[in-house]
Amino acid sequence: MTDAISQERHGVDSLIASSTPSRLPPAPQAVVRPLTRAAIFLVVTINPGNASRDAIRSFCGDLPALLRAVGFRDIEGNLSCVMGIGSEAWDRLFGQPRPAELHSFREIKAGSRHAVATPGDLLFHIRADRMDLCFELATQIMAQIGDAISPVDEVHGFRYFDDRDLIGFVDGTENPTAQTAIDAAYVGAEDSTFAGGSYVIVQKYLHDLAGWNALSTEAQERIIGRTKLSDIELDDAVKPTSAHNALTTIVEDGKEVKIIRDNMPFGRAAEKEFGTYFIGYARSPRTIEQMLENMFVGRPPGNYDRLLDFTTAKTGNLFFVPSATFLENIVNDAPPAGQELADAPAAAPLQREPTRDGSLGIGSLKGDYNS
Ligand code: HEM
Repeated sequence: MTDAISQERHGVDSLIASSTPSRLPPAPQAVVRPLTRAAIFLVVTINPGNASRDAIRSFCGDLPALLRAVGFRDIEGNLSCVMGIGSEAWDRLFGQPRPAELHSFREIKAGSRHAVATPGDLLFHIRADRMDLCFELATQIMAQIGDAISPVDEVHGFRYFDDRDLIGFVDGTENPTAQTAIDAAYVGAEDSTFAGGSYVIVQKYLHDLAGWNALSTEAQERIIGRTKLSDIELDDAVKPTSAHNALTTIVEDGKEVKIIRDNMPFGRAAEKEFGTYFIGYARSPRTIEQMLENMFVGRPPGNYDRLLDFTTAKTGNLFFVPSATFLENIVNDAPPAGQELADAPAAAPLQREPTRDGSLGIGSLKGDYNS
């Protein structure tokens, strides 16, 4: 990731960056953000038909204005929204070219452990320090695209005591910050057409809290790899190789490869539903996929994450998060009236190489955007 991208983006815009002056690299969406008190995770599918497709395409350009409008009602509420697009939806909405590593979520089955793959074309990750801001934005988004989508899953997350998850451990401590976070999150020169984008994997997990709480604190600490009260990493001499934070540590060429997490607890007390919504962003999905492999299959196989004896994945999706510049530049080139979806030309063919001015140079996007 270039310095120019990183300087502009980190913590500057609480909303999707609204514009990119000419000759600047594309503005990323608000992936790297400080933790917030509340979040809504909304996964939807796009309904069949060209009208639905067109509604979503035109909405992409409207989202920044919607964010500004809702966020301005309390600018200290830190409202942000990230929009992700699934693999099949990408083909339908935008056609070629595609982000180099975009594919559907790959399920993993190992013993009784199952990382399920579930439907989902679009993700809205809405964050703010007030749930009413998140809720209002979700409501406004649905008012605009409600007829074009079918909801799959909506989870309202809250920040729990000391940033703990519902199993009682502080969650998020080892998240990278500053430049390290930017380098971890955003696609760079390795896929220059989609520079400033990011990949995101989400999984909704439910916990067997009664079973978990029946363990001693020491047993729980060995499963997570940190102390519970003080959140200190266990010494390697006592930390099992199956500890959660051991299996999710990925080292390539002697360097640790980080991801950005913003997990949120959620639940329904009367239903005895206690969950963690996992969300991980990375410049390549491979890193998170390797973590999942280590957790579910084990490293080496069989040496799996014991957290999964008390935790079940209920959903699983992979999305690409294009840059904010990409979203804002989409124009609707609706196919001729009456043309069926199957006959429709690949939507918005994109120019593969970035243009001289460093913009995305997207074929059927507004050509004059950076002028
Ligand atoms: C129910 C689901 C999960 C829970 C409750 C959970 C909880 C935790 C906790 C308590 C920590 C230690 C504190 C911290 O550094 O944040 C942690 C670390 C971590 N988790 Fe998870 N986690 C879950 C799922 C996942 C998944 C699915 C992944 C990746 C695929 C993942 C990746 C990581 C990583 C990368 C770390 C930091 C490791 C390190 O560098 O020390 N977690 N998690």
